[in-house]
Amino acid sequence: MSEWQPSLRSAVEPFHVMEVMRAAAARQQTHGDMILLCVGQPSTPAPRPVLDAVHAVLESDALGYTVGDGIPALREAIAAHYRSTYDVPVTMDEVLVSTGSSGGFSTVLLAAFDPGARVAMARPGYPAYRNTLRALGIQPVEIDCGPATRFQLTVELLERAHAEAPLDGVIVASPANPTGTLIAPGEFAAIASWCTSQRVLLLSDEIYHGITFGAAAQTARAVSEDAVVLGSLSKFWSMTGWRVGWNLLPRGLRRPVDVLQGNLAICAPAVSQYAAVAAFSPESTDELRRHVDRYAVNRELLLRRLPELGIDSFAPPDGAFYAYCDVSYLTDDSKQWCAEVLDRTGVAIAPGVDFDPVHGNRFVRLSFCGTTDDLDEAIDRLVAIV
Ligand SMILES: Cc1ncc(COP(=O)(O)O)c(C=O)c1O
Repeated sequence: MSEWQPSLRSAVEPFHVMEVMRAAAARQQTHGDMILLCVGQPSTPAPRPVLDAVHAVLESDALGYTVGDGIPALREAIAAHYRSTYDVPVTMDEVLVSTGSSGGFSTVLLAAFDPGARVAMARPGYPAYRNTLRALGIQPVEIDCGPATRFQLTVELLERAHAEAPLDGVIVASPANPTGTLIAPGEFAAIASWCTSQRVLLLSDEIYHGITFGAAAQTARAVSEDAVVLGSLSKFWSMTGWRVGWNLLPRGLRRPVDVLQGNLAICAPAVSQYAAVAAFSPESTDELRRHVDRYAVNRELLLRRLPELGIDSFAPPDGAFYAYCDVSYLTDDSKQWCAEVLDRTGVAIAPGVDFDPVHGNRFVRLSFCGTTDDLDEAIDRLVAIV
């Protein structure tokens, strides 16, 4: 048989950072000196109570499929988390447990939009938004967001895009990847009410909630009952590979998302769901807050030392664990520059092209979720070559 022609919809961009990761692994094999500043995941394991819970459930449960929308104990723990953290009246009926927020994102998009729908997102932004939308036949409307709006959408920017051609949805992330910036509370509420008034679905990616360095992040659920919230245990809870996320869904989307998830995934991993209930215990929260304390120390270190690299153009991150830096004085090809930096120093950095196909060649994303010593050493090495 001649080679199979893949579908047109599958022709989406790969994550360029994966190429950096591959090159970094090769560098580690040959030199053993690699420092990863390109990853978007904590280096720490799940909190202790989760690890204890997983051992116990392995012995006590057959771990078959669970109910499609998630085990009730976990859905209730997630709802209680919203009530206690944000003081919003979430009930477990609104919560659907997904396979990471990524799994939830696909089913929500499928349930909410038909092919050809237009969904706005900030550029720079998390690349999977754009790629997943495209694969589903939905049109990503990337809106340039520069330093003036701290790389975030505003009502004014949305109105402009909506006037050109009506939008059906808007994705926001606050804190965002790759910039770590928050949408100011007033603007967030304004975006939510604009979406309601225009009948545009607001999707709020809240995966970096819990990791903030000043004001806490605001949940869309506090300003809108119409919004979809996407959450995950991946970042604050340090559980990327466990693949547990959730959606908070407005009434009209609950049944369709549930049915789609049942067909596409059956359920989120059972072992992870049972163990995840313990992620919301006070002991887990204490342990996880210590990670955030370390990110805060790393952030200070980075902000203090970035000028040594000549980097003075970036938005200080309000949350997450990234700094998105303009390196245009060093290169106009950030992918090539990151490859060179890895080759000369063993430090792996993410090029901006993943997050912004238009201006990303002038930017890099530095991740500061590793150890403070590694970060300090990485900056020493970078200072030596710029
Ligand atoms: C902004 C953002 N949203 C969603 C995800 C997906 O995370 P997960 O599927 O692990 O919940 C990531 C992962 O890096 C991210 O940075």
